[in-house]
Amino acid sequence: MISVQSIWASVALALSIQVVARPAPLVGRDVSSDLLDQFNLFEQYAAAAYCSENFNSTGTKLSCSAGNCPLVEAADTETLDEFQDTSGYGDTTGFLAVDKTNELIVLSFRGSSSFDNWIANIDFVKTDVDLCDGCEAHSGFWEAWGSVADSVTSQIDSALSTYSGYKLVFTGHSLGAALSTLGGTVLRNSGHTLDLYTFGCPRVGNEALAQYITSQSDANYRLTHTDDPVPKLPPKSFGFSQPSPEYWITSASGDPVTTSDIQVIQGIDSDAGNDGTATGLDIDAHKWYFNAISACS
Ligand SMILES: *[C@@H]1O[C@H](CO)[C@@H](O)[C@H](O)[C@H]1NC(C)=O
Repeated sequence: MISVQSIWASVALALSIQVVARPAPLVGRDVSSDLLDQFNLFEQYAAAAYCSENFNSTGTKLSCSAGNCPLVEAADTETLDEFQDTSGYGDTTGFLAVDKTNELIVLSFRGSSSFDNWIANIDFVKTDVDLCDGCEAHSGFWEAWGSVADSVTSQIDSALSTYSGYKLVFTGHSLGAALSTLGGTVLRNSGHTLDLYTFGCPRVGNEALAQYITSQSDANYRLTHTDDPVPKLPPKSFGFSQPSPEYWITSASGDPVTTSDIQVIQGIDSDAGNDGTATGLDIDAHKWYFNAISACS
């Protein structure tokens, strides 16, 4: 019979091996100014998903009543689909748009309209998903993506055939970041090439899924900000993981972000960035990504 003590001994051994085997974090100091420009543009696309004018009337030009998406407003855009589904897990809201100036097809998901409630109510339930061997995703995020998956995918395919050569980009903030991560991974599995820009993304699944996302060759930009609590949820102790790399913004809430304010951190579940900051409920850090990302809500 196996005693409790011997189980604990093997758990402790496994943990110590893992700690020893984990490579030292690789931390780069700067991103290029071209990459910073991309971050600013796609942050503004994520911000635009909070503005009801961009999810209540398909076929219109994107704008932000809060004034926080000037780069998007300067582009020649038109929404191909605007959607709002509040029936499922929280919320599945956003838009698919064509940007003829930058030659992009952009899918952007909105975060929750109330961060305090959303964070307080986030659950830690996972479900098996067929993305990879052993992959599990957060079941609520997975369901929320699933509620729009078919319609959004067919709209994307039709947009890509109309606008051939345009780049496909998924973006979002908070819950919206989780939906774009899962949806982007599903579409990559079905043969699409797309870039992913996420801001304040929670953990979307287990370590197998994080490894799978990390191994994809398309661009993955997962931005976090100082001690934003959301990328630390659901907790690692419940079997949730964050993919690599992380682009960690270190400037304070309310401050502009320069190239030297972003550290590039390699390694799944590294604590060299956001995850190593003090535990707390700094909602302001969650709401500040280059600008007041959720200002329209
Ligand atoms: C969409 O939302 C905007 C901003 O709140 C509002 O001005 C507009 O009337 C709404 N349009 C429709 C079709 O509901």
